[in-house]
Amino acid sequence: MRSDEVILMKIVILGFGAVGQGVARVISLKREHLLDKYGLQLDIVAVADRSGGAVFDQGLDPELLLKTKNETGKLSQYPDFGVEGFSGLEILDKVEYDCLVEVTPTNIEDGEPALSHMLKALKDGKDVVTSNKGPLALSFTQLSEAAQETGANFKYEASVGGAMPIINLAHDTLAGSDIESVYGILNGTTNYILSRMAKEGSSYEQTLNEARELGIAETDPTQDVDGWDAACKIVILANSVLNLERTLKDVKVEGISQITPEAMALAKKEGYLIKLIGEASQDVLEVSPRLVKEGSPFAVEGTLNVATLKTDLAEDVTVVGKGAGSIETASAILSDLLNIWKAS
Ligand SMILES: NC(=O)c1ccc[n+]([C@@H]2O[C@H](COP(=O)([O-])OP(=O)(O)OC[C@H]3O[C@@H](n4cnc5c(N)ncnc54)[C@H](OP(=O)(O)O)[C@@H]3O)[C@@H](O)[C@H]2O)c1
Repeated sequence: MRSDEVILMKIVILGFGAVGQGVARVISLKREHLLDKYGLQLDIVAVADRSGGAVFDQGLDPELLLKTKNETGKLSQYPDFGVEGFSGLEILDKVEYDCLVEVTPTNIEDGEPALSHMLKALKDGKDVVTSNKGPLALSFTQLSEAAQETGANFKYEASVGGAMPIINLAHDTLAGSDIESVYGILNGTTNYILSRMAKEGSSYEQTLNEARELGIAETDPTQDVDGWDAACKIVILANSVLNLERTLKDVKVEGISQITPEAMALAKKEGYLIKLIGEASQDVLEVSPRLVKEGSPFAVEGTLNVATLKTDLAEDVTVVGKGAGSIETASAILSDLLNIWKAS
């Protein structure tokens, strides 16, 4: 039954690639459901890409945003409300909104432009939801403190494991337990490559090239295969789940490029697989290739992610899910938006 009172949440989306477009699609798909179940109306009042943006305080049409981006490649071409050369920071300064959805590209050098976007929003007392790993892996404490100072909500479920629930699971569902460590396969591209190598006995280079052709690995796959993407995620978990103040430079990182078909075959003979594992605990912060037992929950194939939270009361809790994808990642962003609404 539709709730009598409709609560309006005005959203700014910075970045309109795979995830930003997924968010628009999900808001469009779930519009009636959100109104009926929660009495919540999500209005996108501004969106930006590199061309500029589209701004309308009465709410932009998500389908028209997607159509405009699809047909012209530029949000600034949005009929009537498109603006050329409007930067993310200008939008946050001029537009009236409740929540920033920050989904620009991950930058692990200095976290920009996302770090400045998030800090501005939080300092202005606006809620922030993001899938962007860079600023969190580099400046988690600064962002959390900015949120605490103004009482703004800061949510980032999608930044680790895409649609795989882990951060809110640790914070909410496992709230009474102490979490001692986190252990997981946190990068889909490398898991795909290692799964194929194990199955087919193929070389690393050959399998990487095939993954590139299929669009699973990026043209420049360095951040994935050298372990830096997984390192960003494990450092976010160390901060958010284990309350350890760590940054990316504290992670010991080894990628998968040295893994040979011979090593794979040897592991297989003994009943093991080689996987790229991230681990965070009081004493360990590391990403490296390790052996996992065939048939264990960590023997996941393809681009899946998996993680185990080791707790004092609930013992081991293991989750598996899609670590990437437009709609999948947007689902985690929607759940953060709903959690903000529920807490308000
Ligand atoms: N894709 C996934 O499945 C996934 C999963 C989990 C987390 N993430 C993270 O989510 C974030 C977004 O990922 P994505 O796959 O959507 O990236 P993407 O497809 O590369 O899209 C990035 C978007 O940001 C825009 N952009 C770049 N610089 C900007 C700026 N200065 N101001 C405003 N917009 C700017 C780009 O504009 P143009 O369109 O004009 O180029 C593009 O629309 C990344 O941090 C990524 O690591 C992605």
